[in-house]
Amino acid sequence: MREGGLDATRERLLELAPGVRAIVADPTVPVDGELLDAAGEELAVVANFAVGYDNVDLEACRERGVIVTNTPGVLTNATAELALALTTAAARRLGETERALRAGEWRGWDPGAWLGTELSGATFAVIGMGRIGRRYAELVRPLAGRLVYVARSPKPEAERDLGAERLDLAEALAAADVVSLHAPGGPETRHLIGAVELERMKPTAILVNTARGSLVDSDALADALAAGRIAAAGLDVYENEPEVPASLLAAPNCVLAPHVGSATTKARNAMAVSVAENVLAVLTGTEPPNRVA
Ligand code: GLV
Repeated sequence: MREGGLDATRERLLELAPGVRAIVADPTVPVDGELLDAAGEELAVVANFAVGYDNVDLEACRERGVIVTNTPGVLTNATAELALALTTAAARRLGETERALRAGEWRGWDPGAWLGTELSGATFAVIGMGRIGRRYAELVRPLAGRLVYVARSPKPEAERDLGAERLDLAEALAAADVVSLHAPGGPETRHLIGAVELERMKPTAILVNTARGSLVDSDALADALAAGRIAAAGLDVYENEPEVPASLLAAPNCVLAPHVGSATTKARNAMAVSVAENVLAVLTGTEPPNRVA
């Protein structure tokens, strides 16, 4: 086994690649034609340590007969729970209030200070109703006055079990008090939320992104937060990780987490097992449990 380690540069990965049969990557590692070619003909599988695989060039893998796998399911609860945490943190201004308290700025109970948004009875919009979106919808169902979703195809089970209503994106943005993103990354969803979409949202609304940074135009989001066009945001993912735009760092009404959606011990252990099972299956000539290409 050759370990690139978390700090491995692109050059280091290209040096390590020749002759490997499996590449275990994560969302920070671009797996493209160049890396696949550096690995060479022995390469049989790219196993992504993540459910998202927008870091992997699927077409380049297909062309070279390389199988691609991911780790769905085992991180659904962890990621949906973080989305819920960011939702409540943004609604109740927990980032701001904690920073103020730690800075010694708290002068005692104040009836008018740090007023936030109550979520009971709120309209929640879930954008992307895959496993994680569905779990988030289940978690917020007891709070939600209304639950709407946006998805490429109808989800009759979510409609039946959770009373979720399918809307188009513009309608969902206009209706929602909370918008939570759960769509995959990639060219099709790049800047799904930009200036026009933010304009459609209520000035009291909250945007939560635990999916991929590429879904949101961060400059447009920073402008909307600064101008009060939306009330708050909770983000776990960014366009150029680990860079976080200065405009978002400076936004008091933006709660920021460092891409920790799946970071529970249980989820990460299960993801590691899932990666190992996928690699072993391919290398022993059987169908891997989580093939995406
Ligand atoms: C993490 O970002 C994942 O896609 O699992």
